[in-house]
Amino acid sequence: MKFLITGKDGQAFLAFADLLHERKEKYVTFGGKELDIPDLKAVCEAVLTHKPEAVFNGAADNDVDKAETDWEQAFLVNGIGPRNLAIVREQEKAWGLCHITNTGFCSHYEWARVVLHLDGWKGNLEPAKKNEFKTAANRPTMSRITSLSLSNKMSLQGWEQATDKFLVEIQDLNSWRKFK
Ligand SMILES: NC(=O)c1ccc[n+]([C@@H]2O[C@H](COP(=O)([O-])OP(=O)(O)OC[C@H]3O[C@@H](n4cnc5c(N)ncnc54)[C@H](OP(=O)(O)O)[C@@H]3O)[C@@H](O)[C@H]2O)c1
Repeated sequence: MKFLITGKDGQAFLAFADLLHERKEKYVTFGGKELDIPDLKAVCEAVLTHKPEAVFNGAADNDVDKAETDWEQAFLVNGIGPRNLAIVREQEKAWGLCHITNTGFCSHYEWARVVLHLDGWKGNLEPAKKNEFKTAANRPTMSRITSLSLSNKMSLQGWEQATDKFLVEIQDLNSWRKFK
């Protein structure tokens, strides 16, 4: 299968890249300067040129605190960009649009506890309430996402297993350089 990938330097794609290499899949990648996903014409051109069978969208504006005052960029990248990919999907009828994440869910505290435990840390970790942190954006209490549309098509690993694997991988110098 041939993939078209956006957000080539982002964290999400770095994880996905290992899977593509493992399966010897073909793909073309784009950073934000090469393919600005809010630009519908550019998205159409990229898809028509490369004719992918599937698109992985790793492009995102994740700065939720900045988005409280400068919402336009977040809206363009997180709203209009995926809309453009969906429009091209409709025209091409070649691929679908779905969210992918590991199975299970955890709080930031639980995630930190697992990371520190796997790293051999023996200190005392105290949970904190979100209102103890002064941030511009009011985060939701629960923001779990699922991979419903893929759950019966592929086996996705749990977040603890994925965290363990990630920590092992970044101990390898090459993987660490790739991550940075
Ligand atoms: N990281 C995770 O663990 C994780 C887990 C599940 C889901 N996700 C989801 O995956 C998505 C990406 O997250 P991430 O952590 O990989 O974010 P990230 O590391 O910040 O990467 C986001 C990428 O988006 C690109 N980008 C920004 N504006 C763009 C534009 N206008 N057009 C095209 N590309 C643009 C950036 O590329 P340039 O720097 O080249 O502009 C950057 O490489 C988000 O929707 C996130 O919710 C992430």
